[in-house]
Amino acid sequence: MEIVAIMGSHRNGHNTQKALDFFLNQIQGSQDVHIYNVNKIRVEPCKACDYCIPHQGECITKDDDMTDIYQKFETCDLLVIASPVYFSAFPSKIKAIIDRTQMLYNLKDRSIIKQKEIAVIAVGGAPHYPRQFQAIDNTLEWYKKSLNCHEIGFVQFSHTDEVGTMENEKSLEALKDLGQLVNEFAKSR
Ligand SMILES: Cc1cc2nc3c(=O)[nH]c(=O)nc-3n(C[C@H](O)[C@H](O)[C@H](O)COP(=O)(O)O)c2cc1C
Repeated sequence: MEIVAIMGSHRNGHNTQKALDFFLNQIQGSQDVHIYNVNKIRVEPCKACDYCIPHQGECITKDDDMTDIYQKFETCDLLVIASPVYFSAFPSKIKAIIDRTQMLYNLKDRSIIKQKEIAVIAVGGAPHYPRQFQAIDNTLEWYKKSLNCHEIGFVQFSHTDEVGTMENEKSLEALKDLGQLVNEFAKSR
């Protein structure tokens, strides 16, 4: 099974990356895992130039890491989005990847994009408040459609500025359950 994971925190080795690693460690067997750490790749913002409308399946920006990511988005079986919230929304680096998915949104024939599962891990430093992860959910609504994704889980970690992701037993349990689900999914393939 091909798994693509995006680590969206601007800090390496902090709460988001730890939660993502924990989740990926639950997945058994020799899966083909590609992790994109936003701090280690270069993704230019979408230029909103509409080049991808007449040039179906092509983005005008061809010399950054999105070229490889587009290809993985088309073929992977599971996409994992792990991100903190900054001002209750996606941070800018991962948002650039999401915005560049406009090229796939604009495809007239989206059948080249494999039907896939998506798992979301969202991290917020503040104690839980209403709508802490609402913008993440809203943003992913069209993103999931563009990528032919079916959501299998949305695990939230609040209050991480005081209680790190590795100390949040309840959310870690949810990640274990999600890992189990992925394992069953992988076995049934
Ligand atoms: C620019 C910025 C804005 C933030 N805004 C929010 C916010 O609106 N709500 C929240 O719960 N946490 C907010 N935080 C806290 C982060 O979500 C929190 O520190 C999280 O653990 C960061 O992920 P990391 O530990 O993987 O770096 C913000 C942090 C930064 C740097």
